[in-house]
Amino acid sequence: MEDGPTKEFLVNILESMDGGVLTIDKKARITSFNHSAEEITGFKREEVLNKECYHVLKNGLCEERCPLKETLETGKPVYNYEIMITNKQGKKIPVNITTSPLRSSNNEIIGAVENFRDLTKHEGLWGKLRQERNRAQQYLNIAGVIIVAINEKGEVTLINRKGCDVLGYQEKEIIGNSWFDLCIPERLKKELKGVFKKLMEGKNELVEYYENPILTRTGEERIIEWHNTILTDEKGYIVGSLSSGKDITKRKQAEAELIRAEKLASLGQLAASVAHEVNNPLAGILVYLKLLHKKYKEKTLQTAETENQLLKMEKELERTTRIIRNLLDFSRQSEPNMRPVNLNKVVEAALLLVGHQISLENIKLEKKLDTQIPLVLADFDQIQQVLINIILNANQAMPDGGSLTITTSIAEGIHIGESSKKTVRIDIKDTGVGIPQENLSKLFTPFFTTKEKGKGVGLGLPVVHGIIERHNGKIEVDSELNVGTTFSIYLELMDEKKD
Ligand SMILES: Nc1ncnc2c1ncn2[C@@H]1O[C@H](COP(=O)(O)OP(=O)(O)OP(=O)(O)O)[C@@H](O)[C@H]1O
Ligand SMILES: [Mg+2]
Repeated sequence: MEDGPTKEFLVNILESMDGGVLTIDKKARITSFNHSAEEITGFKREEVLNKECYHVLKNGLCEERCPLKETLETGKPVYNYEIMITNKQGKKIPVNITTSPLRSSNNEIIGAVENFRDLTKHEGLWGKLRQERNRAQQYLNIAGVIIVAINEKGEVTLINRKGCDVLGYQEKEIIGNSWFDLCIPERLKKELKGVFKKLMEGKNELVEYYENPILTRTGEERIIEWHNTILTDEKGYIVGSLSSGKDITKRKQAEAELIRAEKLASLGQLAASVAHEVNNPLAGILVYLKLLHKKYKEKTLQTAETENQLLKMEKELERTTRIIRNLLDFSRQSEPNMRPVNLNKVVEAALLLVGHQISLENIKLEKKLDTQIPLVLADFDQIQQVLINIILNANQAMPDGGSLTITTSIAEGIHIGESSKKTVRIDIKDTGVGIPQENLSKLFTPFFTTKEKGKGVGLGLPVVHGIIERHNGKIEVDSELNVGTTFSIYLELMDEKKD
């Protein structure tokens, strides 16, 4: 460019070109500006020379992507970048920009050249198409939902601004990359890729609506509600998919929170209302019975048989109040009333209450109680409640009969929390219907039940879990469908607790 004639020659060419051309130096200052550039931008050459280019060519996307800056930094050209610029009069003009680096004789980057065309000047089909495309792009960007198109290889071919915002990536970081590798959490990748592949091969029906989490740049997951359509070419072959997605993370969190709160509230309410409804009349009956008993003793009301019956009723009722007190305790999450307990005795006491029912149901009961088991510190009533709940479940799992085996034993090296413990173990084994794998994790959730209305409320096992937890014990379930289920309870030995 030092050479006079060469520069003049170049300037002539530049001036005759039907398209804006400007060059910048390394510091992005404008070093030349041709006639078409003046026409498009409305600025005179004198006004812009030596000024930094973005002061002149303002555009809304400059922060997102500036092709000139990119070329200066990377040394690579940018082709056909379409952008809105604001001219001197404040009018917005769509332009198509191509940039390439300017190098010195020793190949160092000394600046960049940009040529740009005013797209509104383009008449004819191409211009109209382009305008349509721009308008569509604008619609996509205005849309409050994520819009993403994926080709048959799973690569992103289009993503709107909302999509970029949610994901935390820039458009150019997503376009051309595999949607599944970039934006789907690791645990779901394989499955979703498989589903998509089958969809593209026409082997799967399109699921028009689904929810799945996506992975953002920061590693956070967002739950998106997707609506999908299949993209086909003019011959009807599947070439990709187009989806719109709404970020429903907040809604989902709120829902989960509400369900949890409702469950807890209704659990407490249920326990409290049952206790109130039943406890007061029971207490009344008890007083009445005692009175009757007293009268009988004083006046010899009837025969000895009557006394016997009355005593039984009294005992039964006392037991009922105790059970209800347990339910109340549970709703208050009260600490158990710990005493040295022989668990064999608790098993016997539980069977006293439900044994009769078991024999009616054609269930063979087998007890394998180790008479050598040491004492444990436990709340007798609460552990009895635990056993009753588990035995009743076993009972209900064997509608056509079967066998129920209750075993007590010493189990050492049991991990509870951090440490390894010496425990007494109780196994309650049935030969019933079993529990499907997918239900195992839900067993201890309040109100999880597979029983028909009226038969179960789904509180038995949550109560069991709460009690065992407060005893610092452990409960395990082992189940096989149509073979049977074993619940195992471990409670720490008494002397161990004392050290
Ligand atoms: N021994 C078992 N065999 C098969 N399924 C079982 C067994 N024990 C529990 N389950 C399953 O676990 C579910 C939850 O049990 P849970 O005792 O908590 O509630 P429930 O028995 O349904 O109702 P509730 O005990 O409150 O009357 C049951 O509905 C049943 O599906
Ligand atoms: Mg139950």
